[in-house]
Amino acid sequence: MRVGVLCSGRGSNLRAILEARGRGEIPGAEFVCIVSDVAGAGCLDIAGAHGVASAVVPSRDFRGDRPGFERRLLETLASFGAELTVLAGFQRVLGKAFLGGFPGRVMNIHPALLPSFPGHEVWGRETAHGVKLAGATVHFVDEGVDSGPIICQGAVPVLDTDDADALSARILTVEHRIYPAAVAWVTSGRVRLQGRRVALDGFAPSGEAAAARLVWPPLDA
Ligand code: GAR
Repeated sequence: MRVGVLCSGRGSNLRAILEARGRGEIPGAEFVCIVSDVAGAGCLDIAGAHGVASAVVPSRDFRGDRPGFERRLLETLASFGAELTVLAGFQRVLGKAFLGGFPGRVMNIHPALLPSFPGHEVWGRETAHGVKLAGATVHFVDEGVDSGPIICQGAVPVLDTDDADALSARILTVEHRIYPAAVAWVTSGRVRLQGRRVALDGFAPSGEAAAARLVWPPLDA
């Protein structure tokens, strides 16, 4: 499957995905382009270092014209023949104009356990609320904000001493583990959408065995 990645910033998730590809862990994907909406963003250097073509579609050139911005993104991805779009730290909300061109084929990672804490700057809200588990969610993108069907979630504990920076760093480590895996599942055809629920072919776990590992603080604390 030909994959285009949209980024806005430093690109650490992009790097994790391309490193996983380099280790042969995403055999179903060919990464055809990285598109940044911010000129000079770190993600463009990462694309270059991994030998992937890149392009810039500056969102600042499209102020007040979101459909025009989205059409230009679509044209750019189409020019590389992308079949799946992976959002990796892309900081723009995409609407109908874009999603219509990739129906059911846009993935995103969000640094919270959705549907809790959608939107921007989640870490301070999580520490202020006092949640004990935080984490990251890989999901398909629909027209809402961080509201599409969930493919995978990874949890991390929140420590009493955490501030937003400490928590975001811990969540990022789980992002770098789950996003490459989820991209591998989707691009190898293992993921099936059943309404809002996403099933992973070939995986039939025991819920009881998994549950004990997902408690924080641990019950023997
Ligand atoms: C990541 O934490 C990602 O989950 C988040 O932006 C960061 C990008 O970091 N994404 C969003 O907030 C999406 N709205 P990266 O550029 O180092 O991958």
